[in-house]
Amino acid sequence: MIRVYPDPETASHAAARSVVRWAGEAIEDHGSFGLALAGGSTPRRLYELLATDYSTEIPWRHVHLYWGDERCVPPDDDRSNYGMVRTVLLDHVPVPPAGVHRIRGELGPERAAAEYERVLAQAISLDLVLLGMGTDGHTASLFPGQLDLTDPRTVRGVSAPAGVEPRDRVTLTLRGLEAFTAALFLVTGREKRDVVEAARSTAPSAEIPASCVSPARETTWIVDRAAAGETV
Ligand code: 6PG
Repeated sequence: MIRVYPDPETASHAAARSVVRWAGEAIEDHGSFGLALAGGSTPRRLYELLATDYSTEIPWRHVHLYWGDERCVPPDDDRSNYGMVRTVLLDHVPVPPAGVHRIRGELGPERAAAEYERVLAQAISLDLVLLGMGTDGHTASLFPGQLDLTDPRTVRGVSAPAGVEPRDRVTLTLRGLEAFTAALFLVTGREKRDVVEAARSTAPSAEIPASCVSPARETTWIVDRAAAGETV
């Protein structure tokens, strides 16, 4: 399902409302909400909204946060996906420390991936994974040309293509992403227009890793008009 909003701000609000709805349903159904967060710049506003306008609508003490991918840098590095979430969201909402399951990228790709595979295996519930998409169709740190559709692992260390910094990363695999009940992509901007069009119009293709994510219940794409290719 794709939902188109006028601009990044209204798309971010729509994504925040989806997170609130999923949190409520998951907690009512099984007492906890397992949410995986995306890196990159697009979801920053969504995290700000969750920390402000929507913060009282989420029962944070029942929330467990995971990450779809991480760069192999220390948590206080500017490029850390966890670090961004800490500054924008975690410092402002009462998620218990036991509910924050970060990928320890500083251990290096292989050790951090092995550790995080155990973390995911112990999760109480994996409900919603938030994802973004790069202009090349990558999602989390699953890059075109590197996608192994049959990888039995849920997490792996990867080296991003040359030019994508930092290159050393840890990512959930397709299997790891699809361990979540649902996926929510948030994609905005004119520069993503062609790849959004390609992801929507072709059958799942390893050349567009984002098109291959297909969790049990649903995949929703929230995009702005520019990314949808509509005239703005
Ligand atoms: C990361 C991501 C990555 C991101 C896309 C889009 O850690 O880099 O998780 O998959 O979502 O690269 O990034 P932007 O939102 O910055 O375009």
